[in-house]
Amino acid sequence: MAKETSVNAARELLAKAGSIAVLTGAGVSAESGVPTFRGAAGLWKQFRPEDLATPEAFARDPKLCWEWYSWRRGLIAGVEPNPGHFALAEMEQRGRAFTLITQNVDGLHQRADSKNVVEVHGSIWTLRCTKCGKEWQDLSATLPALPHCECGGLARPGVVWFGENLNPQIWAKAEHAAQSCDVMLVAGTSAVVYPAAGLVPLARASGAKVIEVNIEATPLSEMVDYAFSGSSGAILPQLVDR
Ligand code: OAD
Repeated sequence: MAKETSVNAARELLAKAGSIAVLTGAGVSAESGVPTFRGAAGLWKQFRPEDLATPEAFARDPKLCWEWYSWRRGLIAGVEPNPGHFALAEMEQRGRAFTLITQNVDGLHQRADSKNVVEVHGSIWTLRCTKCGKEWQDLSATLPALPHCECGGLARPGVVWFGENLNPQIWAKAEHAAQSCDVMLVAGTSAVVYPAAGLVPLARASGAKVIEVNIEATPLSEMVDYAFSGSSGAILPQLVDR
């Protein structure tokens, strides 16, 4: 399929859309200084997250797992949203249906003032009790080595680990947005992790036009209507109708 390459045409498509769904991944936060998972500077290469981000790893060594998450919380607390985050927040302020589905757990979209954010992989700022199931927010820079719930149970990060299901209510919101949007904008995701990546073919099958922004080609690039090769911090601001 021939790809549209005009930023102006994509901006116009977004400006006219009555309903927009956005899907973001780690690439959107890369320019803020948060390492991506699978890029050359990928976090996985230094820290082997596949050994840390699983229920088994947490059961085996919760202290090590928490050490890694505390390090990431500290790193994220020390960075700022970038022009890509701010562009998406601005796009939302146009008084139409707008859902920002993110695979990121860093909270940078909210810090850029995006409102309708659907965090399909949870949040690094949420803690969940492994005993009573209670969830709470904790934005503190340093946590105890092993955070606990007031019921005495051990807390875990409120994120989705490998081998775990997504929260069904949150996922339903993401699916609804994908199925009902006129345009889906996909930015900074390698689109290899399911079910999140499946939202894009779902939107297409429901009749949406799809715009992709990434520094490299992904498995989606062939199926989208517009594939822009470049950084989200540079391209997303150009897609805002001012
Ligand atoms: P990945 O690390 O897999 O992919 C990051 C994508 O961002 C790549 O396609 C890069 O080419 C692109 N990228 C990097 N810098 C960019 C920039 N400045 N502008 C635009 N694009 C850029 O991250 P995700 O796709 O988010 O899940 O990974 C999906 C999920 O895999 C994560 O949510 C995480 C991980 O397992 C869980 O933790 C459950």
